[in-house]
Amino acid sequence: MGRFWAVFFGLTAVIIFGVSWISPSKHWWFPGDGLAYSTLGGKIDDLFYLILWIVAITFVATNIALVYALWCGATIKKEEKVWFSHGSHSLEVIWTIVPSAILLFIALYQMDVWAEYRIRGFAKDKDGNPRPVVAVAEVTARQFEWRIRYPARGKTLKPTPQPDDIYSVNELHVPTGEMVSITLRTDDVQHAFFVPMLRVKQDAVPGKLIPVWFDVTKPDEYEMLCAELCGWGHYKMKAKLVAQSAEDFEAWKDKASDEQFDDGFRKPAE
Ligand code: CUA
Repeated sequence: MGRFWAVFFGLTAVIIFGVSWISPSKHWWFPGDGLAYSTLGGKIDDLFYLILWIVAITFVATNIALVYALWCGATIKKEEKVWFSHGSHSLEVIWTIVPSAILLFIALYQMDVWAEYRIRGFAKDKDGNPRPVVAVAEVTARQFEWRIRYPARGKTLKPTPQPDDIYSVNELHVPTGEMVSITLRTDDVQHAFFVPMLRVKQDAVPGKLIPVWFDVTKPDEYEMLCAELCGWGHYKMKAKLVAQSAEDFEAWKDKASDEQFDDGFRKPAE
């Protein structure tokens, strides 16, 4: 076989590395066109890229070592004594300390992003003030749909349903440009609220009310999915998140309220 394996592994590594290298510029790594449409989503992507860099460097280094060993090993004569690294203390120490240091670095580095994701009021605006969070709706997952409850115009979301609340199914409307929060709950089994383009994902756990906050930077319609295999109709929980300007959002709410409370009575024409 000679140096076949050295060449084989070398070429394979080059191809894998090449594809991984051009992927970010082609936006193959992330959903949609590769951009997150929420402020926090962009930071989460940056964490992914940081880890990708660490993995890429490790991949290149280990493959160079592998190809080097195979290349040199191919020409070793039978009577030559080879070098065994097994049981080498210094090597063991190095490859225990280096990965530990990398893990510790990632753990500390990601803390602010995690806090923004999980601690209410941690997200700051440009001037360093906490960004206010507006509770827009209660989102209830059930087999197999999303039921959404909004407070009436000018009112705040209450934990229990109110007579003038507005309802929608499989369509979550939110205003863009501000921090909004939803209260996530489930009527039955475990589901997961997932909006890939915003990088937002949260399990809905029976018996729990879980707040989830995010902002949407661009008005558009985004896929809203269930990311937990919740039964035979799991696939049916594909819904949409409609992000609108604040005015359009209020106008939609008015229209939805009018339709919902329409009793069929029309004033006779004068
Ligand atoms: Cu709900 Cu899958």
